Amino acid sequence: MLRIVETSMLPVLTCPEPTEKMDRIAVKEVFAKAVKEWKGGSFALDLSNWIALKGTDCLRDAAEGILLALYKPAKYSKKQSEEPETVVELIGLRGNEEAKEVIRETEHVVKGIVFARNMTNMPGNMLRPLDFAGKVAELVEQVPVEVEILSRERLAELGMNAMLAVGDSSAYPPCLAILRYRGNPDTKEITGLVGKGVTCDTGGYCLKNAGSMMGIRGDMAGGAAVAGAIYALAANGVKVNVTGLIPMCENRISPGSYLPGDVITAYDGQTIQIVNTDAEGRLMLGDAVAYAVRTESVSQVVDIATLTGAAVGITAFGAAPCLAEGEAFYEEFLEGIGLSGERYLRLPIYPEYEKMIESEVADMKNSGGKFAGTITAGLFIRKFAAGRPWIHLDIAGTSWVEKPIYEFQAKGATGAGVTSMYYLCRRKGRSL
Ligand code: BES
Ligand code: ZN
Ligand code: MN
Repeated sequence: MLRIVETSMLPVLTCPEPTEKMDRIAVKEVFAKAVKEWKGGSFALDLSNWIALKGTDCLRDAAEGILLALYKPAKYSKKQSEEPETVVELIGLRGNEEAKEVIRETEHVVKGIVFARNMTNMPGNMLRPLDFAGKVAELVEQVPVEVEILSRERLAELGMNAMLAVGDSSAYPPCLAILRYRGNPDTKEITGLVGKGVTCDTGGYCLKNAGSMMGIRGDMAGGAAVAGAIYALAANGVKVNVTGLIPMCENRISPGSYLPGDVITAYDGQTIQIVNTDAEGRLMLGDAVAYAVRTESVSQVVDIATLTGAAVGITAFGAAPCLAEGEAFYEEFLEGIGLSGERYLRLPIYPEYEKMIESEVADMKNSGGKFAGTITAGLFIRKFAAGRPWIHLDIAGTSWVEKPIYEFQAKGATGAGVTSMYYLCRRKGRSL
């Protein structure tokens, strides 16, 4: 944890020297590295050099780098070794209210990232869909966010059959978590954040092979990121309206599982021919996006998901493919990612890609085949956004690192997407 103090009794860690040309990632990296190399427990840090050369805003990255370097994934061994929490005391900020504000804001953002990492790392048997909903509700308990959990029965009444097609494959029932944060009563504008919450993805009857099963518990990273971002927005009192929707389920084999060849009718009445039960995320997200637009009246939508293996083929683990419609909204997103330091690569939308998901018997099919899989998956979801400005983030590659790319990462979940969604929404609510 960070503590802002006048003077400190703790040993002082010699701060790395700032340089003019360091970008946001470089600043995070430099601090994370210094913290990881320090083996002396709690310490003090004087950041006045950094503020003098790079301005107060660099504290955002310094604080994020420090706190994320301290992150330790949970362990479940019988003999628990309780390590004391490392305290980092920041000195040299006396009278600098702006600096203190930036640090406080970043602490809330980091709590959102840590939540996303913890959820994504959690073993599947400890995080069923309803457990996940409970954790999300707990996260936002102390901040002004309204939580609604739609049960399996309610989803059936509402006709969310695309969600149920997947969710009914498991004895652990699906649900839809809805988070409403209203920070700006002066406008009706609402940004919808929709995150895939598949707590385990076996592929269903189109079963994955054993080699690709280890990571299946991480298939709810997008949903966890949505919750983390909304927590941070609410904790920081950002002046925006946001509704988060997290469809939660397992994708398994059971008598109730859906099958290739099935045709289902989604919440908005569009029909879907199932050609692959492993393309389950788009079904969950399609219904949730339709619900966001029709029933929650969101003005624009971001969806975020560990959606396609093809995404990893395009940009690997350090950047994520994205699709967008609506240039003004995309511009705002670009400004947001400028602050977050995350990397995205926009993919094109051409008419031939739309043709790839046309079905002979239904309004669409749930896989466009083996080419351009990231684009066709995104375009499937776009069909449910009713023409609203839309951004689609495929974090299949960036949400998890077997080998960390950056010092501010740990092996396992990265918390991808939290900062980009936070800063996208924050931009709308605050002038920077
Ligand atoms: N959750 C997976 C995508 C994924 C793969 C995420 C690897 C992280 C690492 C998704 O549900 C999936 O299985 N997608 C299929 C779609 C295909 C069947 C059209 C894929 O990408 O193979
Ligand atoms: Zn999946
Ligand atoms: Mn799948």
